[in-house]
Amino acid sequence: MREPKHPDPEKQKIIEEAVRSGQGHVFRWWHEMGEQGKERLLKQLQAIAFRELGELYNQWKGAATPVSEQKIEPAEIISIPKTQEEISKAQRAVHRGEEAIRAGKIAAFVVAGGQATRLGIEAPKGTLKITPVREKTIFEHHSEKILALSARHKTRIPLYVMTSETNDGATREFFELNRYFGLDPSDVFVFKQEMMPALDFKGKLVLDAKDHIFTSPNGHGGSITSLKRAGALADMQARGIEYIFYFQVDNVLIKMADPLFLGHHIERGAEMSAKVAPKRDPEEKVGVVCRVGNATTVIEYSDLPDDYKYARNPDGSLTFSAGNLAIHVLSVDFVERLNTEKHSLPFHIAEKIIPFLDDNGSLVKPKKKNGLKFEKFVFDALSRARATSILEVDRDEEFAPIKNETGEDSPDTARDLMMRLSAKWLEKAGARVPRDSNGRVKGMLEISPLFALDAAMLKAKLPADFEVRFPLYLGPE
Ligand code: UD1
Repeated sequence: MREPKHPDPEKQKIIEEAVRSGQGHVFRWWHEMGEQGKERLLKQLQAIAFRELGELYNQWKGAATPVSEQKIEPAEIISIPKTQEEISKAQRAVHRGEEAIRAGKIAAFVVAGGQATRLGIEAPKGTLKITPVREKTIFEHHSEKILALSARHKTRIPLYVMTSETNDGATREFFELNRYFGLDPSDVFVFKQEMMPALDFKGKLVLDAKDHIFTSPNGHGGSITSLKRAGALADMQARGIEYIFYFQVDNVLIKMADPLFLGHHIERGAEMSAKVAPKRDPEEKVGVVCRVGNATTVIEYSDLPDDYKYARNPDGSLTFSAGNLAIHVLSVDFVERLNTEKHSLPFHIAEKIIPFLDDNGSLVKPKKKNGLKFEKFVFDALSRARATSILEVDRDEEFAPIKNETGEDSPDTARDLMMRLSAKWLEKAGARVPRDSNGRVKGMLEISPLFALDAAMLKAKLPADFEVRFPLYLGPE
């Protein structure tokens, strides 16, 4: 293949660097491309860190074990309070957290840049209809929580939404079309994360069009640098935000800006915090928060060696059971510091299916894994924090992730968990909820966050003689 020549010396340099890095094959269709196509390809190439990519490939080839030789120990955890002392401590933390919310120091930050591949939908995950009765979308449900919490504390809680090239337009459109679900548009900041090229098993970039290299979002860990680059961090600083409440779009039971969690973070002087819940079983696909050497860190489910995965305490419980719920608090100063330090978060390498162009230039989606994707994980920032706070919570109250179309962690299980929680709140408020012999609620049930954010708020609103009739929807209207 003839090496392309470009009249612009700067662009010629880009071409030469790609060729020098062993990626000259991306110019395979150069001679039949129009000016626009050439520009498109060059723009992508210009953004590629060829050296870093080469190093990642070598790392994969060397199959270096991701977990170091250092001793892995369970992390120090703040357990669910049981003793009077623990309860008082928790109350103090709630108070501290609420103070910070009232003072306008909290931002909500949702990562929603993923591709929802396992869910098999084309649209952003947040547009999925999820609530049991009114079928409100995930984005609406999260927004209602922010609205309700802001109203409760008479404050503004801005929402930052991280998208990616693949779903940014659709996400913005969805918010606009739905009038930001009642949030003030000036309090919603949508920004894109960076993309990362994939490599095939031979270390070559993959074309998914004659003038385009296949890329995918660089992982939620990319948020650390994207928050800065997109101006979101500066926006937070201008508003006096000190703490970022981080959550994943796919968890519909999220306790928005949980004051208890925020309070512990603040009281400990933590830079980053994480919520955990005991793993259901050793195989559950959640990362585990632990201590490696002197640092608190998360070992991803795929990376935890079997000796640790199946280790049990004398009482039979799992030794490494602190399941990462992917709910964090990050101090704004910490994110700023990470951006000024030299070492960015590491990339994790995953073997995946990558669509590619065949010799005829037609797009092929292979059945088997054929290449490597590179992603950064936000929880890797934990080990960089000078202090952390790891809080155990009741998973049934806070964790309903939607990952798969059907079965485990699907919209059905999430809806079920939402209804169980609503039923629990209703019962705490003194209502009788009809259940079948297995304890399942006998009909459809939905409590809008705008009606009640928690059991206590529901109890205060519900008349003593309230009767549950299905389908039940409790909302502001
Ligand atoms: C994740 C965590 C796991 C945790 C579990 C809890 C990783 C690698 N692992 O698993 O430790 O126990 O959630 O549910 O994250 N996202 C982006 N940009 C990206 C990639 C993902 O914004 O480039 C967002 C997605 O939109 C989603 C979230 O991050 O909201 C999680 O991504 P996903 O790939 O579903 O992570 P899991 O493997 O399920």
